[in-house]
Amino acid sequence: MLGAAAGGGSPQWNCRCEVCRLAWAGDPRITPRTQSSIAISRDGEQWALINCAPEILAQIRHNPVLQPQHGDRHTPIRSVLLTNADVDHIGGLLNLRERSPFRLLATPSIQAVLKANPIFEVLNAECVTREPVALETAFELLDGVSARLFAVPGKTALYLEGDTVEIGVEGEDTVGVEFIGAGSRVYYIPGCAAMTPSLAARLEGADLVLFDGTLWRDDEMISAGVGVKTGARMGHMSMSGDAGSIAAFAELAVRRRVFVHINNTNPVLIEGSLERAQAERAGWEIAYDGMELACRS
Ligand code: MLT
Ligand code: MN
Ligand code: ZN
Repeated sequence: MLGAAAGGGSPQWNCRCEVCRLAWAGDPRITPRTQSSIAISRDGEQWALINCAPEILAQIRHNPVLQPQHGDRHTPIRSVLLTNADVDHIGGLLNLRERSPFRLLATPSIQAVLKANPIFEVLNAECVTREPVALETAFELLDGVSARLFAVPGKTALYLEGDTVEIGVEGEDTVGVEFIGAGSRVYYIPGCAAMTPSLAARLEGADLVLFDGTLWRDDEMISAGVGVKTGARMGHMSMSGDAGSIAAFAELAVRRRVFVHINNTNPVLIEGSLERAQAERAGWEIAYDGMELACRS
């Protein structure tokens, strides 16, 4: 787990919500978290990043397995796979620009967003191969690790929103990842606007699901006085409530469930909070930077 926080990180640079205030004060109940990204490996030598947060450089510094190992120039990062084009998931790409080869994998529509932003041309095409990945089609992410992308309800990236925004569309803009061939069924879904019957059927029986944990309550940012949007408007299911993820997963047989992409306003970030206890009682773990998850292979 490179970064367990949602866009903005925890604490967020300009935020003094109740949770951020504790974090800024160094309260031991709060551990700072960087923005949303994981790294996966089968052999510990080759790694794939799933999303690339603006803090990638700090994340590499904190995770020796991602640091250069041989010769003058080297990286264990072989692939970078994107699940949407939000800033928290693509901002770090600009830091991977010093001519080391890697594969940049994403759906055609996410690739088109990168293509339309010329700043990403800093990733020299001689080194960084941009590979479009079709939904529902297994592809090789690393030697011996296959993955499959699937649409989940979501929305276009915040900075691409026009006057009207369609929330909950299922297409190529917001995807989940299934890792195949690890001997376990593992899913990474850092953004999801709703649990649909087809998504529930897909996740049934999974060994591990890392799931969108943006807000505790849909109106959390409004009631904290730090925003005007609901979670639903941002394209995220909230943890609590009848339509929330805790309730949706209560019906599902999922062996291990971990909240990721946690917004800085979310009270589950406070150890000992009622909300943290409620999530844990429902069988959820709250991801933190540096968390390691091992699967059978
Ligand atoms: C989100 O997940 O809603 C986005 O990361 C928001 C943002 O771009 O800050
Ligand atoms: Mn995000
Ligand atoms: Zn905050």
